[in-house]
Amino acid sequence: MIDILTARAADVFLAAFGQPATIQVQAPGRVNLIGEHTDYNGGLVLPCAIGYRTVIVARPRADRLMRVVAADYDDAVDEYSLDAPIERLTAPMWANYVRGVVHELLQRDSGPALRGMDMVVAGDVPQGAGLSSSASLSVAVCTLFASDSPGLGPIEAALVAQRAENDFVGCKCGNMDQISSACGVQDHALLIDCRSLEVKPVPIPAGAAIMIIESHITRGLVDSEYNTRRAQCEEAARYLGVPALRDVDLALLAEKGAGLDPVTLRRARHVVSENERVAAAAAALAAGDLPRMGELMADSHVSMRDDFEITVPAIDLLVDIVKAAIGPAGGVRMTGGGFGGCVVALVPEELVEAARQAVARDYRAPNGEQATVHVCRAAAGAGRL
Ligand code: GLA
Repeated sequence: MIDILTARAADVFLAAFGQPATIQVQAPGRVNLIGEHTDYNGGLVLPCAIGYRTVIVARPRADRLMRVVAADYDDAVDEYSLDAPIERLTAPMWANYVRGVVHELLQRDSGPALRGMDMVVAGDVPQGAGLSSSASLSVAVCTLFASDSPGLGPIEAALVAQRAENDFVGCKCGNMDQISSACGVQDHALLIDCRSLEVKPVPIPAGAAIMIIESHITRGLVDSEYNTRRAQCEEAARYLGVPALRDVDLALLAEKGAGLDPVTLRRARHVVSENERVAAAAAALAAGDLPRMGELMADSHVSMRDDFEITVPAIDLLVDIVKAAIGPAGGVRMTGGGFGGCVVALVPEELVEAARQAVARDYRAPNGEQATVHVCRAAAGAGRL
């Protein structure tokens, strides 16, 4: 059965290009259960792909023209040739995510063989909420071209998508979002070693619900704060004489970190302790131990709030509201890059309603808006439809 998103993209395709699409691919967004700002430190993360995704319907062309239609932006069109240098646009940004991946693919050995494509992009990942709508778009584009690009398996596709975001779009993100989107496994979280790129699926216990609660706090300053945190982590690693904070444990940090300035020391302490929490959380999840997950998620939130300083008061309040409703039976924390976005909760199904009601009753964003609650299952990763 064809889903609504794909059907909409197919309709737009027919209207725009006068014939039906022949390829359909999708790539999901993600939510991170635990392991924040550890990916670019070579560390561990525990996200899962979610049921919101980007769909691309397409038809290869005989020539080297790219014609890209954005169904979510009034069917705006971006058109260019694969034979000319791919330029970054000042706007619209959606076009740059596609261009960036195409640009990266053209650098690969198989790049010159890429065929032009007519394509329509449509998505339902909430944008600007920290659920990786942009990674889902980049990974979807990689998936579309995978059959023309030998060796473009899920991990390599994720790395191409990350390079496109890092070098073409200009966002210095880590690799968690793209790997989650490319490698998701239904009803599993993914324990990702962001250095070795090993991905271990960990089953989500039966009867546990993943709640994603959008705070509707507009995320200002995200990029500059993100880059500052990244620089502080790198400075700490340099000072400690290691390639990345992944190589540090709390004992080493206590022994050798005393000379760091207090802020940098706290940033490092978040990353080092968060890596330990992710390893413990993967074990707790595999054992079906939601109360232990709850403790670790609570500690993660406190560490993000006090040491990494990436939460905001309204998000802290939202976490407190959910925690009061679910008690020790589950966990809740801010998820994603920070400064707003979403809260994630892992709760026994029978507590979902209580959490939902508490949020509706007690939470308002600074602009007066209510939160939006999504109850999700962990989804499969990118692929053909
Ligand atoms: C953003 C980045 C990721 C990761 C998270 C924080 O989502 O895109 O690479 O660093 O922030 O964990």
